[in-house]
Amino acid sequence: MKILITGGAGFIGANFVYHMLEKYPDYDIVCLDKLTYAGNLSTLEKALKNPKFKFVRGDIADKQFVDKLFEEEKFDACVNFAAESHVDRSIEDPQIFLITNIIGTQVLMDACRANGNVRFHQVSTDEVYGDLPLDRPDLLFTENTPIHTSSPYSSSKAGADLLVLAYYRTYGLPVTISRCSNNYGPYHFPEKLIPLMISRALADESLPVYGDGKNVRDWLYVEDHCRAIDLILHKGRIGEVYNVGGHNEMANIDIVKLILKKLGKPESLITYVKDRKGHDLRYAIDPTKIHNELGWLPETKFADGIEKTIKWYLENKKWWQDIISGEYRNYYEKMYSDR
Ligand code: NAD
Ligand code: TYD
Repeated sequence: MKILITGGAGFIGANFVYHMLEKYPDYDIVCLDKLTYAGNLSTLEKALKNPKFKFVRGDIADKQFVDKLFEEEKFDACVNFAAESHVDRSIEDPQIFLITNIIGTQVLMDACRANGNVRFHQVSTDEVYGDLPLDRPDLLFTENTPIHTSSPYSSSKAGADLLVLAYYRTYGLPVTISRCSNNYGPYHFPEKLIPLMISRALADESLPVYGDGKNVRDWLYVEDHCRAIDLILHKGRIGEVYNVGGHNEMANIDIVKLILKKLGKPESLITYVKDRKGHDLRYAIDPTKIHNELGWLPETKFADGIEKTIKWYLENKKWWQDIISGEYRNYYEKMYSDR
């Protein structure tokens, strides 16, 4: 098998690259990544030493480039992680979200079609379902929950999802979609809640909590998400959507307080700031379908996962400090300038 993993220099994509290289040592893995601000090639440093792994820098929305890559490489499957992924940035400037998340998905799927209907998996998000009320813990997102988005980010992901399902119905492209809740773990870019709070707390800087901090997210350790995608890719039913989540709802403020406690830092670092525009109240996934059909269950409890994550950030300070200082942007030049 030769698998194209797009967005593999980002948080979840990189964890998936390592998962696949370890679990399937005979597979060839090609990573296509544009290396936007969120892509960090140093994350793939170990993978780059593996002869079964190849990195290609490029844009999933660049049709000419993508078509040529597909013609040359003859992929058996494509797993699309590449995306603009930060809600706050989408509120500031939506356009690149539409280009990468929607047009990029279309370009990849057209290349799949042109090369013998390559198997395509779209990594999507629970945010396409909008939000749930805080006072109805009985309500969860199922695969039948209507699409009802709040932010330009979630709208662009929903647009891509609809297109993926249209390519299945119209052209018979063998597709699947996973919609996962919030991930956390190693290599999480420090603009997102958990790594931002860890890195700022370690520097004794204020921790910006949006609104009253009571918004709820359903957190899943990134390796559990990677196992779910692996299962769907190999055993999922074509044309289907699978929700992925671990029944682990937590209010933002409780996460922030937990991080402070684990790091031995005072709660006085917490600063309540102006709320995010259109801020989704609560996300909560019902993972019954993937459990019943594919036997998937989360393996990492939040208490263990957050412990492992904090330890990782403590042991890999250079990784995130280089991001904060901007140094990581030089890594590509260092690695590739003479190639
Ligand atoms: P990320 O922002 O950490 O990484 C995105 C990667 O995509 C980066 O390496 C970036 O360089 C690359 N990229 C961006 N635009 C590109 C383009 N035009 N062409 C090629 N590469 C491009 O994102 P993440 O958190 O790892 O999320 C990965 C996927 O999972 C996204 O599709 C996201 O919507 C989805 N998702 C994320 C979460 C989460 O909690 N982070 C939860 C559910 C779903
Ligand atoms: P984020 O990590 O951006 O993920 P998403 O918005 O995709 O769920 O944010 C998680 C939650 O944390 C969300 O409710 C917004 C909140 N948040 C803060 O309170 N402060 C911050 O500085 C950030 C980045 C997020």
